[in-house]
Amino acid sequence: MEIKKICVLGAGLMGNGIAQICAQAGYEVALRDIEQRFVDGGMNTIKKNLGRDAEKGKITQDQMKAILGRIKPTLDVKEAAADADIVVEVVIEVMDVKKKVYAELEAVVPQHCLFFTNTSGLSITEMASATKRPDRFIGTHFFNPVPVMRLLEIIRGHQTSDETLEVAKAWGKKIGKEVIVVKEAPAFVVNRILCTMLNEAFVALDEGLASAEEIDKGMVLGCNHPIGPLALADLVGNDTLLRIMDGLQKELGDKYRPAQYLRKIVRAGNYGRKSGKGVYDYTKK
Ligand code: 3HC
Repeated sequence: MEIKKICVLGAGLMGNGIAQICAQAGYEVALRDIEQRFVDGGMNTIKKNLGRDAEKGKITQDQMKAILGRIKPTLDVKEAAADADIVVEVVIEVMDVKKKVYAELEAVVPQHCLFFTNTSGLSITEMASATKRPDRFIGTHFFNPVPVMRLLEIIRGHQTSDETLEVAKAWGKKIGKEVIVVKEAPAFVVNRILCTMLNEAFVALDEGLASAEEIDKGMVLGCNHPIGPLALADLVGNDTLLRIMDGLQKELGDKYRPAQYLRKIVRAGNYGRKSGKGVYDYTKK
């Protein structure tokens, strides 16, 4: 199956990164969101990232222009998806919202179109079964920041066909990612391990074992992690982390209970970098 056009639904943190690397790989891309300010925000991030690459001499100005020229920002789902070979759905991690998006999509996409969902842990099979194409549906889990992180975790739903898996693997390779294929399970492989560790850092903070700075320093210097777990939670989004932990606890039991402090800062709206405050304060330079 020849893939020419990718429709990315959702221009936020992950969506704009996915749109960028697809355009860099030569695909035509439609980047769709529900409000102009989200679409503009996504395009501005892409321009900033490509501008930085151009300044470093990684790409030329002409290449930058060509990449940007391949991305069409839009609010119109029909315009975005009507001729798409693949739709990568990157909307909020709420099952009912994702199902609604797929119902809307079914009315506009061509028969051959594949649905790739970027989810940090929701059931691929449940989403796929809400569509008319469960065989052409697969999970593609990216990591933040998308242009930098090398991994793509691919998750097969119960009815995903071998052909869809092969197309997803080839696409992942073409957009510059190393692929691992994992079985469907709550939070898959990487988030199951990573988010449990991040949550444990919040437990340590809750119990007063050390300050946030010391916990992070401990994991950076003691384990060679690029950033500490609490700083990483702020990067990923504490709301996202809490949603993943809630899902793990619901499906796998109390071993995965979210830390109280994590719940508290999410209730306070301290989602991390994206809201200006999380464990750390990003409003002061
Ligand atoms: N977008 C694009 N490029 C970025 C970027 C961004 N948001 N942030 C950094 N970069 C690039 C920089 O331009 C730089 O590129 P260069 O090597 O060409 O110069 C390179 O990344 C390194 O950046 P910096 O020197 O500015 O900063 P650091 O060395 O501190 O690296 C980091 C930043 C790459 C984010 C590093 O801190 C890191 O690897 N952190 C861990 C990230 C991680 O674990 N991500 C996974 C989260 S889990 C997840 O996403 C799953 C979800 O479902 C929860």
